[in-house]
Amino acid sequence: MMWLVTFLVLLEFARCGIATFPTQLVFQSPTGQALENIAVRPSSKLLITSTVSPTLYTLDPIAANATLDEVYTFPNANALTGIAEYRRDVYAIAASELNDTSIMIAPGSVIPQSKLTNGLSTVPGHPDLVLAADSILGAAFEVNVRTGAVRVLIQDAAMAPGPPGGPPPPIGINGLHLGTFSRVLLDGGAVEVLGVPRPGVYDDFAFDSEGRAWVATNPGALTLFTRLENGTFEQEIAVGDATGTTVLNGPSTAAFGRDGARETKILYVTTRTGQIVAVDTSGGHA
Ligand SMILES: *[C@@H]1O[C@H](CO)[C@@H](O)[C@H](O)[C@H]1NC(C)=O
Ligand SMILES: *[C@@H]1O[C@H](CO)[C@@H](O)[C@H](O)[C@H]1NC(C)=O
Ligand SMILES: *[C@@H]1O[C@H](CO)[C@@H](O)[C@H](O)[C@H]1NC(C)=O
Repeated sequence: MMWLVTFLVLLEFARCGIATFPTQLVFQSPTGQALENIAVRPSSKLLITSTVSPTLYTLDPIAANATLDEVYTFPNANALTGIAEYRRDVYAIAASELNDTSIMIAPGSVIPQSKLTNGLSTVPGHPDLVLAADSILGAAFEVNVRTGAVRVLIQDAAMAPGPPGGPPPPIGINGLHLGTFSRVLLDGGAVEVLGVPRPGVYDDFAFDSEGRAWVATNPGALTLFTRLENGTFEQEIAVGDATGTTVLNGPSTAAFGRDGARETKILYVTTRTGQIVAVDTSGGHA
C-alpha cells in the first residue's frame, strides 16, 4: 500500500520555536519574479519553475554568485505549475496557459478536464506514473507519461476549494505537497488530515532523512513537523516568522540538496518574491 502524503496539517502541539537554523540568501530575483517549485538534480543543481513564466530555469546553489539561467522555454504556455523527477534526472513538467483573472488554465492546456493543474508528484515504484493535483477540482490525476493515459485517481472534499466567502484563495489541493498536511492511501480511502496551520497558510513541503516534514508556511516561515512516539505530530516554527516576513517572504516550496552528506542537509526554499534561501538543517537548535 502506498501513502501519498499531501497537504494536511498536523496536530495541536504548536510550540513557539525560534528561528535557530542558519539561513543564507542564495539568490534574489532582481524583478521579484515569483518562484514556485524546485527539483533538485543529482548534482544538487536546482531546476526552478515560476507561475509567471513558461521558462524552466537552473541555478547552481553553491556558485559564488548564483544566477538563474534558462534551460527551456515552453511554447503555448505562460506558467509552469509543477515539476517531478519520475526517472533519475528526467522530469515531468506542467506547462500551463494560466488565466490570471479566473485562476484557471485554458481547457486542455495541461490535461484534458483539468481546471488548475497545481503540482506534480511521482509514484514510488511506478516510474511511468506521475500524479497531477488539480486545485479547483480537488482531485489528483494519474498520468502515464509513457502512454499518455490520464485518469482521476483521487477526488475528495478535503482537497477541494473552501466555500465562497471563506479565507482566500479559493483553491483546494495545491501542489501534491501543499495546503494542509494530509495523507491519502493511493488505492482508495479518505484523506486523513494530520494537522492544520496555526498560524499561517501551508504550501509545499519536504521530508528529511529522519522523517520530519519541513513545510513552507506563509507569510514567512518554515514549519517543522516531528512525529512523536505516540504517533501524533509536534509542529514548531523552524525558520522565519509565521506572522511576518523576515528571512523568508512568501515561501512556496522546499527541497533538499542531493550531492554529498552536507548537501543532503541543506534545504532550499523558493519564495513568491523571488528568493532562494538555503537552510542548514544539520545542526540542532535551541
Ligand atoms: C560576485 O559578485 C560580486 C559583486 O557584484 C563581485 O564583486 C564578485 O567578483 C563576483 N564573484 C564572482 C566569483 O563572480
Ligand atoms: C480569463 O478569465 C476571465 C474571467 O473569467 C475572462 O473574462 C477572460 O475572458 C479570460 N481570459 C482568457 C484569455 O480566456
Ligand atoms: C503524545 O505525546 C505528547 C508528548 O509526550 C503529549 O503531549 C501528547 O498529549 C500525546 N498525545 C496523545 C494523543 O497521546
